[in-house]
Amino acid sequence: MTIRVGVIGAGIMGADHIRNLSRNIGSAKVSYVADVDRQRAESAAAVAGANPTTDPGELIASGDVDAVLIASHDSTHAELILESFEAGKPVLCEKPLAPSVEEGRRVVKADEEIIAATGTSLLSLGFMRRSDPGYVELKDALASGRVGDAVLVHCVSRNSASAPGATSESAVRNSAVHELDIIPWLLESPITEVSWHAGKPSPGAPAGLADPQLMLFRTANGVLTTLELFLNAEYGYSTRCEIVGEHGALSLVEPVSVAVDVERARSTGYARDWRPRFADAYRIELQAWISSLVPGAEGGPGVDRGSTLATARDGLQASIVADSVIDSMHNGGAWTAVGRIA
Ligand SMILES: NC(=O)c1ccc[n+]([C@@H]2O[C@H](COP(=O)([O-])OP(=O)(O)OC[C@H]3O[C@@H](n4cnc5c(N)ncnc54)[C@H](O)[C@@H]3O)[C@@H](O)[C@H]2O)c1
Repeated sequence: MTIRVGVIGAGIMGADHIRNLSRNIGSAKVSYVADVDRQRAESAAAVAGANPTTDPGELIASGDVDAVLIASHDSTHAELILESFEAGKPVLCEKPLAPSVEEGRRVVKADEEIIAATGTSLLSLGFMRRSDPGYVELKDALASGRVGDAVLVHCVSRNSASAPGATSESAVRNSAVHELDIIPWLLESPITEVSWHAGKPSPGAPAGLADPQLMLFRTANGVLTTLELFLNAEYGYSTRCEIVGEHGALSLVEPVSVAVDVERARSTGYARDWRPRFADAYRIELQAWISSLVPGAEGGPGVDRGSTLATARDGLQASIVADSVIDSMHNGGAWTAVGRIA
């Protein structure tokens, strides 16, 4: 069985997902591409031999679309998820679930009504670090007990340059949100308290963006996590995570394939952005989603829903934490308690 996927948003991520679904993912084909920018829709659709449209509603309603992948702007996510639910179609939506907690709650409510009625969720969320081989191994290594319990976690998230229009708040909701999801997942403990601080401003940062930012998270199990988020680090894209345990430490090793030895020095490269760094994670995430939709396949409906894909509730909880970080930002870095989903 082939799952015919309609992709909404043919920008950086949408185009990457379309290439993957067309070339690297089994049991999938892209049948429709929607983007409000007609030229983007047409050129991305051409790669896959799909129908282009500027109207996401036409894509969602189409009889040629079995499942919907949302990779359009954050502000469109909640509305497009709800429209896909109305059409009874499964959705993989890029993170974040929605820019506001209120919209996220509407999605979770609709998702839970569908689960109550059918026993199955229609929504998976694109927190792809859960599919990254490095993060999966880090979680397994911690669970093995070899370094004892975690006592501290250090995270660093650096980009070459911030996106146009980035602000301190959007950087938390859109970039730091990856750590807001992955830290509770790694530690199996929710974030209960947060504190936000600005570093000395980088000359490369636009007005309105404190860059770098330093965030502290405390999880219910007492572990303290630090996150340096630096969007204009210039030298490349870098995601680091070190878990300090009672008897040792576990660190992600950033993937490299080639080292250059010349003039008595060794060097390796950095990716320009997240796509090469997380290429395996995006492929594994997409394959897990498609397999969950194919009856009888491993991880398919009624067989095993225990995949690594994030849920609507995971997305809402990350947005709730993001709101608390932003509250701390506007309150001089005060420790701020994080609410839980009711
Ligand atoms: N998982 C990750 O690692 C990761 C990385 C980057 C971005 N993202 C997320 O992916 C999404 C897309 O990001 P991007 O970097 O590709 O952005 P982008 O700006 O390159 O692309 C977004 C596209 O959506 C289109 N669009 C906007 N509103 C639309 C609508 N109502 N209907 C159809 N198309 C619409 C735009 O014309 C644009 O082509 C965002 O939600 C972002 O947060 C996730």
